[in-house]
Amino acid sequence: MAEKKVSESKTEMSQLMMPQHANFGGTIYGGTILSIADSVAYVCAARHAGPNCVTVSVDRVDFRKPIRIGELVTFLASVNFVGHSSMEVGIKIFSENLGTGQKRHTNSCYFTMVCLNDQRKPKEVPRLVPETADEKRRYEAGRKRHEAARK
Ligand SMILES: CC(C)(COP(=O)(O)OP(=O)(O)OC[C@H]1O[C@@H](n2cnc3c(N)ncnc32)[C@H](O)[C@@H]1OP(=O)(O)O)[C@@H](O)C(=O)NCCC(=O)NCCS
Repeated sequence: MAEKKVSESKTEMSQLMMPQHANFGGTIYGGTILSIADSVAYVCAARHAGPNCVTVSVDRVDFRKPIRIGELVTFLASVNFVGHSSMEVGIKIFSENLGTGQKRHTNSCYFTMVCLNDQRKPKEVPRLVPETADEKRRYEAGRKRHEAARK
């Protein structure tokens, strides 16, 4: 079976928050952030395993600080762990005030994506090769979450 390094599927995407993304109070809808995060998780999974990937689970998501219109939101994603057909994609979300340059870490979450075959059944994905100390730590934490989800 093929294998891929974590670095081969790392994904970064930024989106300027516009009025259509916000509620009446001028802060950004949580659904806007989740929708973009889902796309980013898809791109990261597809880079690792190919385009026929779907979302099966999203872990708890906390919105700790409001994001406002005019801020640039950046999503950093990498595959933390792969099982047989599933991939855990970790996403860190930062918002940047373009006036002051101040950056804030606003969210982190984990998406579980599954690669499907032409019959829409789970298909084996390439093995993941974690290289750095951080990648190895995330791999081990992802493996524990994968095992806990199967119980
Ligand atoms: C993806 C799908 C085909 C998987 O079917 P399934 O019967 O759960 O298949 P399996 O039990 O073999 O699970 C496949 C993998 O997903 C993992 N998985 C399934 N449900 C999970 C969950 N809730 N959380 C974490 N992992 C999960 C399994 O552990 C397994 O991982 P592995 O192959 O790496 O060991 C099916 O759930 C599906 O079609 N879901 C809809 C996907 C979709 O449309 N998403 C868009 C959102 S609406």
